[in-house]
Amino acid sequence: MKFDEIERSTVTQSISHVNLHYPRKDGDGEAAALLLEACGLVRTQEMDLPYGGTFYRFTSNAHDINYPNNIVYLSPYTPQTQAMIDKARAALGMDTADPDPVVKAFHEANAIDPERELHVGFLVDSLEFLEQVFLKLKDLEANDPRFADRLKIVVNRALPGNPEIDERLDASPIYNGVTRYTFGRNGVQAFCATDLIVDGPLAEGLVIEFDYVFPGYEEHIMSVSEVTPETARV
Ligand SMILES: [Fe+2]
Repeated sequence: MKFDEIERSTVTQSISHVNLHYPRKDGDGEAAALLLEACGLVRTQEMDLPYGGTFYRFTSNAHDINYPNNIVYLSPYTPQTQAMIDKARAALGMDTADPDPVVKAFHEANAIDPERELHVGFLVDSLEFLEQVFLKLKDLEANDPRFADRLKIVVNRALPGNPEIDERLDASPIYNGVTRYTFGRNGVQAFCATDLIVDGPLAEGLVIEFDYVFPGYEEHIMSVSEVTPETARV
């Protein structure tokens, strides 16, 4: 801690909410809402907005839905934001067959690692739950036309070397055979990149991350990040 002027020893602080957006296209709002539900969030509110579209509130506090943290708000871009993004994307040729070279380079760099740009991470205390969520997302992508080509799944195994964890992941329906690894130990990650929810630089889509930490380890993926030979992706 480099800034020590504020007394906070009796204060509890957490992230209360993130405010996400879906593009202003017919159907994307409800598909984006269904995606968040498939990710385990509880939909607690829907409200029509004066500038069009639907505002949603979700929470990951499934056992206390009114609790004022762990909230995800979801709404369409305002017309003004959408207009600005449309103009910027057009200037870069982003939705054409011949985009500006910086766009191609941006996509290639981000394809290496889903965590390089804006993303939202959820911590769960059940690996089985995480596995169920991602089996469901794969099923939606394969079988529900609302999600076809709009969900991209990537998963990272725990760094190898812990026999108990390695054995559990070898038996996992989503981690068996995976050779991508986390930037840390004793945990796993799973990512769903989607363009049903946008935000980030030029509305290129959002990455939803799930994290699970194996219990009993002081050092884990959420406590210390490290770059190892297995994770030196450039
Ligand atoms: Fe992350």
